[in-house]
Amino acid sequence: MDKTTQFKILKELFRQLDNNVNVDAGIQLRNPTSSYTCSDLAGKKWKTFFREHPQLIGLSSDLPEPGTYITSEDFGVPVLATRAEDGRFRAFINACRHRGVKVAPEARGESARFQCPFHNWTYSSKGELLGIPRMRDFGALDRACHGLIELPAEERYGLLYVHPQPDGRLNIDELLGELAGEIESWHIGGFIYMGQSAIDKALNWKLANDTFGETYHFPRLHKNTLGQLFYGDALAYETFGRNHRFVFPAKTIDYLREKPEQEWSIARVANVLYYLFPNIQLNIGPRSLSLIRIYPDGENPGRSITRIGHYFSQYDIDAAKEKDRIRIDAGNVYDATSREGKVSFSLEASMEVFDSTVEQEDYAMGETTQRAAASGALQHVIFGRNEPALHHYHNTFREALGMAPLEQAS
Ligand code: FES
Ligand SMILES: [Fe+2]
Repeated sequence: MDKTTQFKILKELFRQLDNNVNVDAGIQLRNPTSSYTCSDLAGKKWKTFFREHPQLIGLSSDLPEPGTYITSEDFGVPVLATRAEDGRFRAFINACRHRGVKVAPEARGESARFQCPFHNWTYSSKGELLGIPRMRDFGALDRACHGLIELPAEERYGLLYVHPQPDGRLNIDELLGELAGEIESWHIGGFIYMGQSAIDKALNWKLANDTFGETYHFPRLHKNTLGQLFYGDALAYETFGRNHRFVFPAKTIDYLREKPEQEWSIARVANVLYYLFPNIQLNIGPRSLSLIRIYPDGENPGRSITRIGHYFSQYDIDAAKEKDRIRIDAGNVYDATSREGKVSFSLEASMEVFDSTVEQEDYAMGETTQRAAASGALQHVIFGRNEPALHHYHNTFREALGMAPLEQAS
């Protein structure tokens, strides 16, 4: 992020903290609870935002070496993504050309060849059909025409994007829009994959997403966890088309008060959370990064799956190895020798704290909203003036489906 933007954001956060005010959208909106329960709407969203929309499936370090692969079935199409020996990222439908069996059954691994378990047809990591056992019995087949079906795939700024349709259109710069340069500036490709968790819960995928959409709850719901480390009720917020940037201050921001403004840097004193339409929360801390992908259940609007990928800088992995314990701040890893950061955890512990906060605090709230919404007794929820990200998400979803914007609450 360029210095001017950092400075503007930090100034805005200090303005809010010093005046005890939060971000202000100027209006309150009402969101009908049918948005979380309606099967018809869920079906349209599944088709428009997942089955027919480009998907961010991971970061460059999910495929760290030639010969590594990952798979996904989160958006309806089974995908096998590979990095072949030429270093290129490719994606295929994870289905054998014989009778459609999954050729790569694991979530991730290392293999330059994929052998279908059913009759052992074998494919390369470039998707080529290499071998058919007992072809003389099976009959003649042009191997060149029966490779794995390739999907549009693009790797840019450390992001791995796939389009679930073989003839789909994929352009990362278009998807990121004005945020492209800023995303590039984080050097996301340099972060190293350390682990992933899945949270399968009884809440709509948008309710899950909503929990990442305000800091109003930090000093309340998270008073004993994140609320210890971050100031709630303060947020520097900006939209970029369908995406947004959401920056909230760590309590360490106060160290900047002693420093000349030209030395200010956002990296150690705030979390920068990007929302990338339709289902991504990309959380960037000082040397750690979390990629949060939130998926609907294609058939049940009352269920979603969240996958949280954890990535760290080489610096912090080395520091953790050496000292086994380093300072972290809710997923933000600080230099063990710095004065910043108050709690010490291992990298594993930092991942666990992040995951359990999301699951046991945020999503526990969303599950109760889901039940109230499903009962039919609660007609709408209210998005406050201090919750502009919720205004933006929901109106963006609605606009994409040709629906009218949310109505004003008062
Ligand atoms: S289905 Fe894959 S080899 Fe038969
Ligand atoms: Fe939260």
